[in-house]
Amino acid sequence: MVDVLDNESGVINRGVRMSSGITGLDKMISGGFIPGRNILITGPSGSGKTTIAGHFLVDGPKGTDECSLYVSLEEQKNKIFSDLGTIGIDLISAEKSGTLHFVGGPIANITNYMRKLDANAEHIILEIEDIIRKKKIKRVVIDSINLLTMIPKMLEEKREMLAKLCNMLSSLGCTSLLLSETRDEDRRISEFGIEEYIVDGVVVLYHLKQGTRFVPGIAIRKLRGSSHDHDIRPYDITAHGLIVYPEEVMFMGDGR
Ligand SMILES: Nc1ncnc2c1ncn2[C@@H]1O[C@H](COP(=O)(O)OP(=O)(O)O)[C@@H](O)[C@H]1O
Ligand SMILES: [Mg+2]
Repeated sequence: MVDVLDNESGVINRGVRMSSGITGLDKMISGGFIPGRNILITGPSGSGKTTIAGHFLVDGPKGTDECSLYVSLEEQKNKIFSDLGTIGIDLISAEKSGTLHFVGGPIANITNYMRKLDANAEHIILEIEDIIRKKKIKRVVIDSINLLTMIPKMLEEKREMLAKLCNMLSSLGCTSLLLSETRDEDRRISEFGIEEYIVDGVVVLYHLKQGTRFVPGIAIRKLRGSSHDHDIRPYDITAHGLIVYPEEVMFMGDGR
């Protein structure tokens, strides 16, 4: 077990941390995620959620024998693997080496589930559980939870379904990133306004308007059981992946 001392707060964070695969983000969260926790990664389209997922699954486990699972409920595998490959996140090699498993497919899969009278989001959760058990998975990404959360009709059912998903992931010892897309104009953290209450942590990606530019910023809005950075920090998506600048401050413009 490793104890990580947070210099600013003086809080000692006990236990081994799971690297996010992004050095600057690890610094914001006292060394990494607490194993077995669920983290919501939320932000508008194109903000870098899938990129963070790629780093978490491929770079995070480096030097360990952890197996990862990418559940894609919206985008096609080829597209994700090829897009992330252009910025140096090599999902293809990770899959070939047997450390990365991919399940999913397009919206059609979920739509088929929804068409079946007896099918619901629980079937998808059970399918994910089955793979985690068989492949001994320790890191999970669900990209994204928006469609899954749309399946139950009532808000209370949505909440129950998400809690079931999170409990299943945690009880199997998985550290998980649940990606959630928000609308640019929306100031809410999540699509339905319930997701952030169920998870253990929330990382928000912003597009902050500065003059004529949108500048990307990242903030930790919640992290149960851990000290963390409370400032919005700048980040960039570059040819070498997503880089977080944990010592830099954002200059706000336009009254935001
Ligand atoms: N080679 C690259 N160089 C710089 N930025 C890139 C490159 N490839 C993609 N990006 C940026 O990454 C964004 C996509 O990030 P992604 O993780 O797919 O976002 P999300 O999953 O939140 O929709 C693009 O909109 C673009 O701004
Ligand atoms: Mg994405």
